[in-house]
Amino acid sequence: MENETLTITDNRTGKTYTVQLFKGAVRSMDLRQIKTETDEFGLMCYDPAFMNTASCQSSITYIDGDKGILRYRGYPIEVLAEKCSFLETAYLVLNGDLPNKSQLDEFTAEITRHTMLHENTKKLMEGFHYDAHPMGMLVSSVAALSTFYPEAKNVHDPAIRHLETIRLIAKMATIAAHCYRHNLGMPYVYPDNSLNDTENFMSMLWKRAEPKYEPNPVLARALEILFILHMDHEQNCSTNAMRAVGSSLADPYVTTAAAIAALYGPLHGGANEQVLRMLDEIGSVENVPAFVDKIKAGKGRLMGFGHRVYKNYDPRAKIIKQAAEAVFGVTGKNPKLEIALELERVALSDEYFIKRKLYPNVDFYSGIIYQAMGFTTEMFTVLFAIPRAVGWLAQWQEMIQDPEQKIARPRQIFTGHWLRDFVPMEKR
Ligand code: ACO
Repeated sequence: MENETLTITDNRTGKTYTVQLFKGAVRSMDLRQIKTETDEFGLMCYDPAFMNTASCQSSITYIDGDKGILRYRGYPIEVLAEKCSFLETAYLVLNGDLPNKSQLDEFTAEITRHTMLHENTKKLMEGFHYDAHPMGMLVSSVAALSTFYPEAKNVHDPAIRHLETIRLIAKMATIAAHCYRHNLGMPYVYPDNSLNDTENFMSMLWKRAEPKYEPNPVLARALEILFILHMDHEQNCSTNAMRAVGSSLADPYVTTAAAIAALYGPLHGGANEQVLRMLDEIGSVENVPAFVDKIKAGKGRLMGFGHRVYKNYDPRAKIIKQAAEAVFGVTGKNPKLEIALELERVALSDEYFIKRKLYPNVDFYSGIIYQAMGFTTEMFTVLFAIPRAVGWLAQWQEMIQDPEQKIARPRQIFTGHWLRDFVPMEKR
């Protein structure tokens, strides 16, 4: 398009600059030429928390936060959640297109082959305290995989990248299930490769003395839908961590561990755990208005509400709300659902939340489903991390292959002492 330029006048010097726009954005480096003295550093952008900075070009996930749209590789999330399996969606996110039958069979066989963990990983996990938080165990165990696969550091080798991507996706579920069993003091269950990926995960979680675990198909499908919904979400906090750490060319295991650490925080993936704690604190439907008043008075946040990008209903929350019905048909209703529904009703009709465009996000209902399925609260963020690993790895692969990417290294505006005279210890 013609005239895709910006004219900037620097009122300090009176000079005018014409800057070419790039895909509707300003390249920050083009601002560097704007200076008052020739030996000056040049103009920078100040953008704490990256509120208005695109850090990359990506073709994986599209979000329109105002319209409540989420698409992976061009496909609406609603369609994928209804029609696809977890591995079919994972193939799409990683490779750009939906697989045909033989591609999916091959991908499934590859993932299935790599679900086993080295026995020493199991031994390492046995060393955790009985009540260790599963996210702490997950971060450490995924990082430890780096020591078992030292060739993973060859991140510029496409065959190695592919193998480690498959390994990571396959082993995340096994490690997650071991974390769960560890907290319960139950022996770890080895993968059963005659089951599909979600059913196998359920077997590793819940198998007891029976010779073969029989997964409930409704719960297996609900879990699969939740996994599809959580697979990728463009440049969120943990994906940004994945790209930033990966940009130093660290191997994908330690890089994924960094992303898991970012996900752990209560403002990100840790929110679903906080939602359940909040519902416990509210206790009953009658207490909802008083709780909302407390939030409006600035005492805490409504967990599972609000989003940096969505200023409308999070499309994932809508699908999860529907999936909840199917799950509760099997497990019986989670009594916390009534409190959550009332909380949503009160908040969505309240001026405070309307004005700030605060709607339920993906975490508002996911915890209620997970709890009804029998998961402990601490496991919720782990359940988020399993499918999100697919997104992290797709973004990592994209970053490694992007010729414009370099080691991520922001600038700062220095606000400290300029130059100080050293004072010896006895004179301080
Ligand atoms: N409850 C009450 N008020 C809120 C909430 C909330 N959950 N979220 C935002 N606000 C208010 C803020 O206090 C602020 O009000 P002000 O303008 O009067 O100061 C305004 O809304 C804007 O909030 P910001 O903090 O600027 O929004 P930001 O985009 O930085 O934060 C975030 C997004 C972190 C998700 C925030 O909404 C939040 O803390 N939500 C609760 C935690 C949560 O559910 N996280 C999960 C997000 S989804 C995910 O990571 C998978």
